[in-house]
Amino acid sequence: MTDFEDVWTREAKFVNMALNEFLDMKIEQVRKLSKIHVQYYENVKEYIMRGGKRLRPVLVATGYKAIQKRLTEKHLYRAACSVEILHNGSLLHDDLIDHDETRRGGPTVHALYREWHKKEIDDDEKRAADFGMTMAILGGDSLINLGAQAISESHMDPKITVKCLKLYEDAFQDLVDGVLLEMMMVYEENPTPETYLEMIRMKTAVLFEKSLLIGAAIAEASDSQLSSLSEFGIKVGQAFQIQDDILGTFGDEEVTGKPADGDIREGKKTMLVLEAYRRSSVEQKAVLDKLLGNPDMSDKDVDKVRTVFKESGALEAAKEKMDSLLEQGQKALDKANPPLRPKSKDFLLTLSNFLVQRTY
Ligand code: IPE
Ligand code: IPE
Ligand code: MG
Repeated sequence: MTDFEDVWTREAKFVNMALNEFLDMKIEQVRKLSKIHVQYYENVKEYIMRGGKRLRPVLVATGYKAIQKRLTEKHLYRAACSVEILHNGSLLHDDLIDHDETRRGGPTVHALYREWHKKEIDDDEKRAADFGMTMAILGGDSLINLGAQAISESHMDPKITVKCLKLYEDAFQDLVDGVLLEMMMVYEENPTPETYLEMIRMKTAVLFEKSLLIGAAIAEASDSQLSSLSEFGIKVGQAFQIQDDILGTFGDEEVTGKPADGDIREGKKTMLVLEAYRRSSVEQKAVLDKLLGNPDMSDKDVDKVRTVFKESGALEAAKEKMDSLLEQGQKALDKANPPLRPKSKDFLLTLSNFLVQRTY
């Protein structure tokens, strides 16, 4: 194993242990309510523990270690869970919004409960779909709240706790505002690249940034260290989302565990769409106009859109933009004063390279 993989495995293991402990404690707390509550939170826990790369909590831990050599905060991993739980809450809602049926190789929560309703209650499609939706809304809501509790119940110094909660609130607010912008962009004819970059900054990159800042705040970083980590988090988070756009159309569903036609069927203005419109011939544009955003299109039609993305040069252009954001983000790590700890800096550099090359 490389040094990077070693560190990665160790950090993800600590995160998973802390997640297990925190979620089990929450399940214990609802035992007094009813069996249904216990079952429900066990399902939510299964969803969180099903997989996921744990990027955001690992960034919290790395943000801390980039500043402080010794781990003196014994509740670091409890606090780190917060951003993973928030992320999962946002995924429950995101999959509902995006009408996606799979996540991390299993059913999304709304799909799971829709099917449960059909099997256990009655076979009415609409009532089942409504029920699934209700469960996913509640699940997302409770996770967003549990994420905040992972900070407020972390037993850290009260001043640091308040700082971390503020970062958490800001991340959540931007995430919502970003998804809101994304939804409105579906109806916008020619959104600019600037609007797109702002949208993915808010919906995705800010949570990467705030994860690093939560770790750095716990380690009492200097302003210069904070701003270096902040710039890295935003730029690399944007690059990460461009790769997510690419995987959301060209990925292998067996590997990503989620659909590879959703963005096209939903008419999402991904980097691929923006670049394709800028580069397409009249015929290629006609294909995009006709097909994008049509949920009932055939698999063959989805392939036609993929071909336009490739042949217009949009796929290449998206990769170039991603690489340029990656480079800017990586450079930002040199700006910290006092400098970031070399081991953590190397880890962040390797991690960011992995994020744009990943297949899942
Ligand atoms: C997926 O995030 C959602 C986006 C913000 C693009 P990840 O790719 O980090 O998802 P998991 O947690 O590893 O499943
Ligand atoms: C996920 O956005 C971002 C949030 C959850 C806020 P996407 O819709 O692009 O991510 P995937 O592809 O479903 O994971
Ligand atoms: Mg989605």
